[in-house]
Amino acid sequence: MTDQAITAAPFVARESFIELGARERARALLDPGTFRELLGPFDRLTSPWLPLQGIVCQADDGVVIARGTIDGAPAVVAAIESAFQGGSIGEVAGSKIAGALELALRDCENGRPVRPVIVFETGGVRLQEANLGLAVIAEIQSAIVSLRRHVPVVGVIAGMVGCFGGMSLAAALCTRLVMTRQGRLGMNGPEVIEQEAGIDELDATDRLRIWQLIGGAQRVASGFADMLVEDDASAIATAVHVAFSQGVASPHRSEAVQRYLDSLARIDPATVAPEAMRAVFRPCAQQDACDDPACGQHAAPQANREESQ
Ligand code: COA
Repeated sequence: MTDQAITAAPFVARESFIELGARERARALLDPGTFRELLGPFDRLTSPWLPLQGIVCQADDGVVIARGTIDGAPAVVAAIESAFQGGSIGEVAGSKIAGALELALRDCENGRPVRPVIVFETGGVRLQEANLGLAVIAEIQSAIVSLRRHVPVVGVIAGMVGCFGGMSLAAALCTRLVMTRQGRLGMNGPEVIEQEAGIDELDATDRLRIWQLIGGAQRVASGFADMLVEDDASAIATAVHVAFSQGVASPHRSEAVQRYLDSLARIDPATVAPEAMRAVFRPCAQQDACDDPACGQHAAPQANREESQ
């Protein structure tokens, strides 16, 4: 089943996923009535570093961890709140995500598969927590790599902030990525690129160009994300269900190293254009399952190992 099969409700009947906060996003992805928050605001797990810099903390440090079920199977959702510090990942916020993934891994290793979903909405490492943020993002990435051997790890990038910095690498490690057109996925944010490389390289106010380069439609067309879904909470929940039903990918996108090195070698910096990038990174874009042995993206999914456990 592909994204084409996921139809959104008529526009006026849709509930925007983008406009939901992290808690409601997690609730929308879990089976009705199964949402149960872990380490919630009343546990008061706040950043010890922000007050030292005169910044007011948030009681959940901007990350919601929820257990529940997806299609009746145990699941855990880690949803990042864009409204707090741009969804940036500090020590506590990142530890909540890494800890949730590590517990899911332990359950999987003990024969109790847990479906992990990460709702990315983040400017990357929280600059105020620097190295601690970097360290915990590495723990998140490590947990994803361990976990995806057992179950698909599904990422959602809906939009508001997008997904940047070290967390863009975490997204790239996911088994499958669901995006909306409004979502953005990139290593450095547009302002950072403009600041570091100059306005001739990228004008950070040029929204059309930014979305042409790193928006959801471009990322799916280039094979860096898997499903393009309208901003409709129930359509996004359906896409997550579909992503799990497709089972564990083999090989994962991030394992197709030679293919990406070859693609990078084909880029002519003088003629970088969004359409050209699609052709460079996804030469077999129109195929659901291609026969390129080096292609880590379009191989037919294996039988669902999770289901058979
Ligand atoms: N650490 C701390 N705060 C961050 C942050 C980060 N990594 N990323 C974003 N924020 C904050 C911003 O400072 C801003 O705070 P303010 O409202 O108090 O001013 C808030 O989040 C929203 O960011 P803003 O830039 O206003 O939103 P935007 O939608 O225009 O752009 C980004 C969002 C993510 C594209 C932009 O903030 C950006 O480019 N961030 C850096 C991304 C990056 O390169 N990360 C790599 C770090 S290694």
